[in-house]
Amino acid sequence: MCVALLFGGMSSEHEVSCVSVGNFVRNIDRSKYEVLTVGITKEGRWLYTEATAEQMADGSWEELPGNMPCVISPDRADHGMILFTPDGRVEKMHLDVVIPVLHGLWGEDGTVQGLLELAGIAYVGCGVLASSVCMDKAVANALFEANGVPHTKWVAANRWEIEKDLEGVCAGVEQKLGWPVFVKPANAGSSVGISKVSSQEELKAAIALALENDRKVVFEAFVDGQEVECAVIGSDPAVATRPGEILAGAEFYTYDDKYKNGVSQTVIPAHLPEAKLDEVKTYAAMAYTALNCEGLARCDFFVEKNTGRVLINEINTFPGFTAISMYPKLMEHEGLPVPQLIDRLIALAVE
Ligand code: DAL
Ligand code: MG
Repeated sequence: MCVALLFGGMSSEHEVSCVSVGNFVRNIDRSKYEVLTVGITKEGRWLYTEATAEQMADGSWEELPGNMPCVISPDRADHGMILFTPDGRVEKMHLDVVIPVLHGLWGEDGTVQGLLELAGIAYVGCGVLASSVCMDKAVANALFEANGVPHTKWVAANRWEIEKDLEGVCAGVEQKLGWPVFVKPANAGSSVGISKVSSQEELKAAIALALENDRKVVFEAFVDGQEVECAVIGSDPAVATRPGEILAGAEFYTYDDKYKNGVSQTVIPAHLPEAKLDEVKTYAAMAYTALNCEGLARCDFFVEKNTGRVLINEINTFPGFTAISMYPKLMEHEGLPVPQLIDRLIALAVE
């Protein structure tokens, strides 16, 4: 069976993806699968590459002389990938399964999934609809609400609304949510463009930052509590793991904490009473199913300190998969080490 790993991508999470893919490269069982790797540069060039996991992680993969431009063909007759060789030939490669190890926009948001649907190639993870609704925090929040999955108080505003009446939007945020407030681009991941603010001045600066990343901004009331995450796999039925907990190193769990500083620690299971762990698990499977997820996703929650309320934060449809990432660690804790987890994900994609 020929499996293609896609990595990199044009989002702000390019580097995370280049590390996540290494965990697949190192752990996929090559006695079962023929493995191809295709990197997508930040500029959006698709390159077939024979880079090692280390070269993917340090970025040097892009410059390797053996790389070849390639595309996934939406023409179903091709059923796969077209390679452009240095001597001007065009080679077709049949693909059985694609693993889109891509985080954020243009990868985890339904776009690549749409291309693979057109091409008729099986792929690991969520389909177009779930990928795109989970990527947009305003749409996801509305769907959580509609499906009875508790969420902190929130509001959203589009760029044009903000440009028309910045003062009004800011006053509304303070009135509805109080301080502190999280300000997020509606479509982003890995905490990029997110701020925590406690005054009107900070709010305005945070809106400007969020608008650099998207044309829609989501405001969420701060929740004082534990950050817990649940891995979910499959869909008939979806199975959620016991949640793990993030011990954040900074004010909140930032991009640098997650991927650069190594200051955040994960604890599995989360420090919570057994009944609370079960409640998080139940909400994780409920949210995953409500938003039409398949294959895999990681559901992130807060457990409020004073009230014990479980509040969903977001769903990541292709969660970080690095050796220190929560998703593979949670699965390993349930008795599914990474090589078997990859087998399971591939089986779910082709079944
Ligand atoms: N978006 C990153 C990769 C995560 O949530 O794991
Ligand atoms: Mg998260």
